[in-house]
Amino acid sequence: MSIEDLESIALAMVAPGKGIIAIDESTNTIKKRFEAVGIENTEENRRAYRELLLTTPGLNEHISGAILYDETIRQSTKDGVPFTQLMKKLGIIPGIKVDKGPQPLAGFPGDVVTEGLDGLRERLQEYARLGAQFAKWRAVINISEDNPSSTAIEANCHVLARYAALCQEAGLVPMVEPEVIMDGDHSIEVSYEVHEAVLRSLFNALYEQNVMLEGTILKISMVIPGKDSDEQVDVEEVAEATVRVLKSTVPASLPGIVFLSGGQTDQQSTAHLNAMNQIGPHPWPLSFSYGRAMQQAALKLWSKDMKANYAEAQKTVYARARDNGLAALGQWNG
Ligand code: 13P
Repeated sequence: MSIEDLESIALAMVAPGKGIIAIDESTNTIKKRFEAVGIENTEENRRAYRELLLTTPGLNEHISGAILYDETIRQSTKDGVPFTQLMKKLGIIPGIKVDKGPQPLAGFPGDVVTEGLDGLRERLQEYARLGAQFAKWRAVINISEDNPSSTAIEANCHVLARYAALCQEAGLVPMVEPEVIMDGDHSIEVSYEVHEAVLRSLFNALYEQNVMLEGTILKISMVIPGKDSDEQVDVEEVAEATVRVLKSTVPASLPGIVFLSGGQTDQQSTAHLNAMNQIGPHPWPLSFSYGRAMQQAALKLWSKDMKANYAEAQKTVYARARDNGLAALGQWNG
C-alpha cells in the first residue's frame, strides 16, 4: 500500500465533524465495565453489546471508524453479518487494538511499558486480511512524585514507533496512543510538562524508525490536573494548554489528532474538545476517539433491561456521537 493510500485512510478517520468510537476493551477491561453495572462477562454478552453499539441508527453520520478488539473483529451480528462487513457498508473504518497491555517496567517502580511486539508482523497481516485499515497501540504514562522516568518515556515511545513502522509495512494506519494517566494529585502544569516530554520523545522515535507521519494518527490525553488534585481549572484553560503543547511538539504533516476520554465525564470530554476547536484553526483536525465517554450512558441503560432499553441505549450512543461530532467542529452548544 502506498503512502497516499495510508494518508487517505488517515484523513477519512478525521473527516470534518467525525470521530472514532473506541470499543476495543480487552476481555479483562470489559469485565470491569460489565461488572460495574451487573452484566455477566460472557462471550455472547460481549458480542451483543458490540452489536448494539455498531448498529446504532445514524452512527455513521458522526463516526468515521471504530476500534475493535481481537475477539470482536472475528464476531458477527446475530444475523450472521461479520462486524467488519457491516462497518464497511456503513462507511465506518474498522480498526484493531494490537498491543498486549502494559507491564511493570523492570527497575522503575511505578512505570509501565506496553508489550506486544513479538509476532506483531504476522498478527497485523492477519488483521489486514480480516478487514482492519488502522491499528491502535496504547502506551501508559503514570504520574507520581517519582514517575514517569525518562527511561519509561523513551521505552514506550520506542515501542510505539516500532509498532507504527510495522503497521505501515502491513498497509495499516498506525494510531499511536501515549496516554498520560489522570490518576494522582498533580497540577495541570505537571500534566503539561509530562505531555511535552512524551510528545517530543514520540515524534523523535517515529522519525528514527522511518515512520511516515502523513499516514499516522496521534491519539492523546488532554492536559488536565490529576483526578485527586484540588486545583480548579476551567474548560478554556484545559483547551488552551492542550493546544499549546500539541502546537509545540506535533509536526503539521500529521493528518489528525484524536483524544481519549481517560475518565473525564461525558460533559467534560465534549466541552474540552469543543473549546479546543473554537480557538482554531489548528494545523491538524482535532477530533475524538472516546471509549467510556461514548459508551457509559448506553451501557448503564442496557444493563437495566437488555431488551426493553435496547433502542434507548442506542439513542444515547447516537447523541454522544452527534455531540462529539459537533465538538470536533467547535459547534457544540452544551
Ligand atoms: P477512554 O476514552 O475510555 O479513555 O478509552 C479510549 C481508549 O481507547 C483508550 O485506549
